[in-house]
Amino acid sequence: MRILSIESSCDETSIAIVDDGIEVKSNIIASSQAAFTTSGGVIPEEAARKQVECVIPVLHQALELAQTDWSSIDAIAVTKGPGLLGSLLVGTVTGRALASIHELPLIGVHHTLGHLSSTWLETDKNDPPTFPILTLSASGGHTELWLRTSHTQGELIGRTRDDAAGEAFDKGATLLGLPYPGGPSIAKAAEHGKTDAYDLPVPLQKYDTLDFSFSGLKTALRYTIRDLPPESRTLGGELLDDTLHNIAASYQYAICFHLVDRIRIAIERYPEIKEVHLVGGVSANTVLRSMVTEACGSQAVVRFPKKLSYCTDNAAMIAAAGYFLHLDGDSSTVGFETMASLPLAAAVTSY
Ligand code: KG4
Ligand code: ZN
Repeated sequence: MRILSIESSCDETSIAIVDDGIEVKSNIIASSQAAFTTSGGVIPEEAARKQVECVIPVLHQALELAQTDWSSIDAIAVTKGPGLLGSLLVGTVTGRALASIHELPLIGVHHTLGHLSSTWLETDKNDPPTFPILTLSASGGHTELWLRTSHTQGELIGRTRDDAAGEAFDKGATLLGLPYPGGPSIAKAAEHGKTDAYDLPVPLQKYDTLDFSFSGLKTALRYTIRDLPPESRTLGGELLDDTLHNIAASYQYAICFHLVDRIRIAIERYPEIKEVHLVGGVSANTVLRSMVTEACGSQAVVRFPKKLSYCTDNAAMIAAAGYFLHLDGDSSTVGFETMASLPLAAAVTSY
């Protein structure tokens, strides 16, 4: 089954063509992120305006790269929410129009189910992931732990009490004077730093909970920067490279330690877990990947999306989720509404 998918929930306009939820024929991603490096985050109106301009050129590129035309497409999948309303509407209105013109079924997909499905893209058909799977979904807006028994069924077993992990990276980067998005900038600055140079507290370390919290850590970072001795700065007041690298490394380590800690507790609580998956923008983080792999040892197979472009927002993951919804005969996807706020738990059906 060949699905053409559209994702436009935040600052990206992405269109992909994917066969059977696995084989990616094309996955074009246009992003207006560069326009927001200095604003510390996305400006919704501006993002939507840019999406209106590029959705049709991106569609043509996706068809061209896949070397195909509409006669080969079996269905259209589109992100129905949650996200920025103006941005979502660009994608869903385009999807509805195309489905009507080409007389194709239209599948509405929860953005989070897209991330949860991203670990299937380009997997070896002879080595598919095995349920039950513990999935850490960590992005700019979300940080959750899911216990999944099938593609579309499962349970939300942990979530953040305040900021998301990606948000902790983004806000931390702003405090450090690094550009948005903060994840990649902090990861780069941390490459030459020492993880134990600054004593930043790992959140909820003594608590037996699957929840996350990042706001205390962010405040600790703020105070660490405020209390630095004058010799840590240039005459112009900027942080010296060594100081910046060490703080970035310590901060990144504390975020990753907290995420890994919750995975450890979940594996203990649910010994039936066969695999641990990391998805969402933060799953691009290489320090996090190696810490999770080490923590899981031989207890669970660890998987991340096969490409960095499948970690951050992309349409290929929406095609995979659309395919799995179709396979499971999920009727909630038909006749859907575009919704900026969509309950998180609605990403999967509870069992
Ligand atoms: O999934 P995503 O593209 O969009 C949302 O749905 O939010 O995630 C974006 C988030 C941003 O907060 C960004 O800072 C973070 O993912 N991110 C990273 C890395 N690359 C992106 N965080 C840590 N390390 C990275 N390498
Ligand atoms: Zn996302």
